[in-house]
Amino acid sequence: MSSDLTRRGFLGSAATVAILGSGATLAATPSEAGHAAQPRPKILGICCSPRKGKSTAAALSICLDAIKAFDGRIEVELIELAGRKIPGEVAAGIVLEPGERDDFPALVPKLSSPMVAGIILGTPVYFGNMSSLCKAFLDRWIVFHKDKLLANKVGGVLAVGGARNGGQELTIRSVQVALMSQQMIVVGDAPPTGHWGGTVWGGNPAVSTGSTPDIARDVEGIASVKNLGRRVAEMALRLHVTGPGNVIKPQ
Ligand SMILES: Cc1cc2nc3c(=O)[nH]c(=O)nc-3n(C[C@H](O)[C@H](O)[C@H](O)COP(=O)(O)O)c2cc1C
Repeated sequence: MSSDLTRRGFLGSAATVAILGSGATLAATPSEAGHAAQPRPKILGICCSPRKGKSTAAALSICLDAIKAFDGRIEVELIELAGRKIPGEVAAGIVLEPGERDDFPALVPKLSSPMVAGIILGTPVYFGNMSSLCKAFLDRWIVFHKDKLLANKVGGVLAVGGARNGGQELTIRSVQVALMSQQMIVVGDAPPTGHWGGTVWGGNPAVSTGSTPDIARDVEGIASVKNLGRRVAEMALRLHVTGPGNVIKPQ
């Protein structure tokens, strides 16, 4: 590919323009300027467990570490919703009582930033579905819907259950539907694990004891989480950095 074609391919990407911001200019193509000049896409891991730092957060950390290992140009950030008040009814126009706390608006700029190329949701399995915190959070995403502020960001999901087959895949599917409603590009994990995302067994549920389940014992589940991270990273790079010319190969 000639450098002219490469430049046009890179500049022609709407996603590239979006990630740089409308006022940004590119001085050189990646091949001319090297990696330092490239925009660094960011991938957020959002933990929807009401229990801070427990098994869902641990699984997301492993997922984000896999992303950094896949390609160091990608920035990652773990956001835990535990301890935040996110009233879901606001999505339906219900006005909060005076003084009632709402921690969702502070997250809006972070989620909708053009630099965010991917979002990975992690939720515990609660009776075969996502946590109520996760559902309330996703309902609040109605603010992004009209202006398609999350469209074309890459989405992935992992679920942690107390049982090996406790509804992780059902839960993942349920969350994926919400991501697709935002026109996000939803991916799962990659072979040899399959197929829809990170499916983690938290071992003996620690709900009653308050201790942290040891997810590291779930070798297959950890592999699915790492593969999910790699898939999200791969698609984030293709869609948000390389553009249609695919001029930057993943490291
Ligand atoms: C209300 C409730 C419902 C649950 N339902 C399921 C379930 O259907 N399937 C399952 O495998 N585990 C279920 N669990 C166990 C949690 O998914 C498991 O403990 C998980 O690891 C918790 O994530 P955390 O450590 O990040 O809080 C349930 C736990 C609670 C509190």
